[in-house]
Amino acid sequence: MGNVIGGLFTSHVPAIGNAITRGLQQDPYWKPFFDGFAPVRRWLGERRPDVTVVFYNDHGLNFFLDKLPTFAVGAAASYRHGDGGWGLPEFKAFEGAQQLSWHIINTLVENEFDITTCQEMLVDHGFVMPFELCWPGSDRPVKVVPIEINTVLHPLPSPKRCLALGRAVGRALESWAGDEKILVIGTGGLSHQLDGARAGFINKDYDNFCLDKIGPDPEALTRHSSLDIVELAGSQGIEILNWIAARGALGDGTVEVSRNYHIPISNTAAATLLLERPVGDRAVRPVRAGEPVLA
Ligand code: DHB
Ligand code: FE
Repeated sequence: MGNVIGGLFTSHVPAIGNAITRGLQQDPYWKPFFDGFAPVRRWLGERRPDVTVVFYNDHGLNFFLDKLPTFAVGAAASYRHGDGGWGLPEFKAFEGAQQLSWHIINTLVENEFDITTCQEMLVDHGFVMPFELCWPGSDRPVKVVPIEINTVLHPLPSPKRCLALGRAVGRALESWAGDEKILVIGTGGLSHQLDGARAGFINKDYDNFCLDKIGPDPEALTRHSSLDIVELAGSQGIEILNWIAARGALGDGTVEVSRNYHIPISNTAAATLLLERPVGDRAVRPVRAGEPVLA
């Protein structure tokens, strides 16, 4: 049976990659953001996932405005990082969990999600960012399944549909015969707008609403339409759709392990949230950035 151990949600600002490349983790501008990953890395060191299923949005690298699926799932043996110059260099390709990809694809189509299947796929900063934050400088110990959501070209999918997509992926993970430990990841957000009259727009109240509700009550995030969210969170803040879908894949009964929120990183309210699926009667309690996860 599939074994989903938790969900990691994080912003994917390309400048973070630049800061990693330049070793600026302790710089006063960057430290408050990078410190949020210390408890995440400790948790990963203990729980050791084998596979990550990553919900993210492409920014014009693999898909462009001429052909842009609403939902796309990777089924490749490997995925090359193709937007060097935006932060992280284009290093080692990501190894695909190809059989799990096909199981997810088959389950989604059976569940009437008319997705696009990609047997070749380049990935951009929306996908790669969490990996150098979680396993810096190391050989990545996880295989990947990329799930891409259109957050860039209207009409956008609704939050309700993204939660349903995530839940259907969650059913696929539950019915997966392998015994890999699976980590679900959602990237993007929180509030930000990169261009136009509202460039630089941040909405702390909406961001905190998302951070508070996404674990215990993800439906709360679906009461806004996508256009409402563009209004509330900025035209790129709609990347929260990736978090909503990832949350759907996690299933019920999550517990918050750590949370970090810092304004600004570049133009973005940067957030990191780790939710776990408790195992047995292991005691769990919320942990804040900088605090040890496990005594
Ligand atoms: C920024 C944020 C993003 O989500 C992105 O894809 C590109 C840039 C930023 O704040 O600079
Ligand atoms: Fe983005």
